[in-house]
Amino acid sequence: MTRAPELHIFTDASELAAEAADFFLWVGEQAIAQRGRFLVALSGGSTPKALYSELAGPACASRLDWSRVHFCFGDERCVPPSHAESNFAAAQSTLFAPLGIPPDHIYRLEGEADPAEAARRYEETLRRLTGTLQGQWPQFDLILLGMGEDGHTASLFPGTPALHERERWVVPGQAPHGIRSRLTLTPGVINHAGVVLFLVTGASKAAVLRDVVEGRESARAPYPAAMIRPAEGRLVWFLDRAAASELTVSKQGISSEEA
Ligand code: 6PG
Repeated sequence: MTRAPELHIFTDASELAAEAADFFLWVGEQAIAQRGRFLVALSGGSTPKALYSELAGPACASRLDWSRVHFCFGDERCVPPSHAESNFAAAQSTLFAPLGIPPDHIYRLEGEADPAEAARRYEETLRRLTGTLQGQWPQFDLILLGMGEDGHTASLFPGTPALHERERWVVPGQAPHGIRSRLTLTPGVINHAGVVLFLVTGASKAAVLRDVVEGRESARAPYPAAMIRPAEGRLVWFLDRAAASELTVSKQGISSEEA
């Protein structure tokens, strides 16, 4: 039984980043207290960079035992780790380096390698890291996600084979523009997280966000973001007012709070 999505609407991207940092730390504290470590998958793109800077900043850096945090990635562009478009490179500069995260607590998707081989190796890495038995899904404590204007999330793009993967944890993805060759966690992994946190800002995403959150079908292929429905975990949306500007959802069934 999936839970109702939780919507939190903030004045702007800056307030959203500060509140997302607070929530990230709360989830991390709970995970470390209950399981001795915090297993998180970071998202790519530009939106989370403000969150990463907040977490590395003076208000947050001392609030979590970072030595207990294991950083994975929800997706990666198939480029070298030093490339300007690399999700790893963005996290390295805004989060890992400022916090002094040890390399053995960072699990990078090998964007520089053959995608199929990199996907296979990452699944092996995750299986070792999580100790998940065959036939079961790994359980991340937190998976961060963004959403594109076409409703994609991670590197799950509309109309691509990755959306229909039911067994593998990591697969090659295909983006319609930009860095086309990608690596991505599959819906099965994402939907078994304890908490899935979407960070979405900007008016350009408002119409698709309304359709995704309110369950409207897209005129074309289904929105990948609409496929994210955690089996037992929490689905949390952190939105700025611009991205939330076309929501018509009643309060019924969706807990929303205007920050
Ligand atoms: C990526 C991301 C992707 C991103 C969305 C939103 O590698 O690009 O994983 O899913 O979250 O495209 O990107 P912005 O935050 O830049 O709008």
